[in-house]
Amino acid sequence: MGFYDDRIVPRLVNIACGMSLTEPFRKRVCADLRGRVVEIGFGSGLNVPFYPSTIESISAVEPADLGWKLAAKRLATSTVPVERSGLDGESLPFDDNTFDSALSTWTMCTIPDVDAALREVRRVLKPGGTLHFVEHGLAPHEKVRRWQYRLEPIQKAVAGGCHLTREIPAIVRAAGFEIQDLDTFYEEGTPKFLGALSLGVTAPVEK
Ligand SMILES: C[S@@+](CC[C@H](N)C(=O)[O-])C[C@H]1O[C@@H](n2cnc3c(N)ncnc32)[C@H](O)[C@@H]1O
Repeated sequence: MGFYDDRIVPRLVNIACGMSLTEPFRKRVCADLRGRVVEIGFGSGLNVPFYPSTIESISAVEPADLGWKLAAKRLATSTVPVERSGLDGESLPFDDNTFDSALSTWTMCTIPDVDAALREVRRVLKPGGTLHFVEHGLAPHEKVRRWQYRLEPIQKAVAGGCHLTREIPAIVRAAGFEIQDLDTFYEEGTPKFLGALSLGVTAPVEK
C-alpha cells in the first residue's frame, strides 16, 4: 500500500463512516449477533459500541494497521473481547464451521474480490450461522446509477478501492447465501450515489 492508502484512507474512513447518521444502522445490524463472531473489514472499530451482550467474542479481520490503532479507545471500553485475528477477508485463517455469526458493514464495497470473501465467510460459518450486513451499493434508480458509474473511478481512487456499483444483495445470493431479511433504502443526509443501502441477514444455503 502507498502512503495515501496506508496513512490517509483509514483516517478518512474513521471520519466518514463515524458520522452519527450511521449509528442507527450499526445498532440494527449488530442487534442479533450471537456467540463467536467474525467481523470482516473491522476498520477503526465503529461497531464496537453496538455489540450486544449475546456476543461471546469478536475475531476482527482488517488489513489496515492504522484502522486497528484508531480503534484503541473503543476497544478499551468494549464489553466484548475483540482480537485482531486476520488481515484479509479473501483468505480467512479459521477452520470451517467456526463462527455463529459474521458481520460486514460498509466493507463489501471495498474488498477487491468480494466473491472470494463471501465464499470464505460461508466456509467459516457453522451450520445455522448468519451473516449480518449493512452495505452501500448500486442504487435502485437509473438516474442515480448513471452518476454512480461516472463517479466510481474517482471514488475508488480516493476511498481505498471503494466501488459504488456493486449490487450487494445479488452478490450475496450468488455466493450461496439465502436472504432471510432485507431492507433497502437511501440513507438520509447522504448523497444518493453513496447512500443506497442494503441492510440484512443472510445464511448459507445447505449448510
Ligand atoms: C469503508 S471501510 C468500513 C470499515 C468498517 N467496517 C465500518 O463500518 O466503519 C472498509 C474497510 O474494509 C477494509 N478492507 C479492505 N480490503 C479488505 C480485505 N481484503 N479484507 C478485509 N477488509 C478489507 C478496509 O481496510 C476498511 O477498513
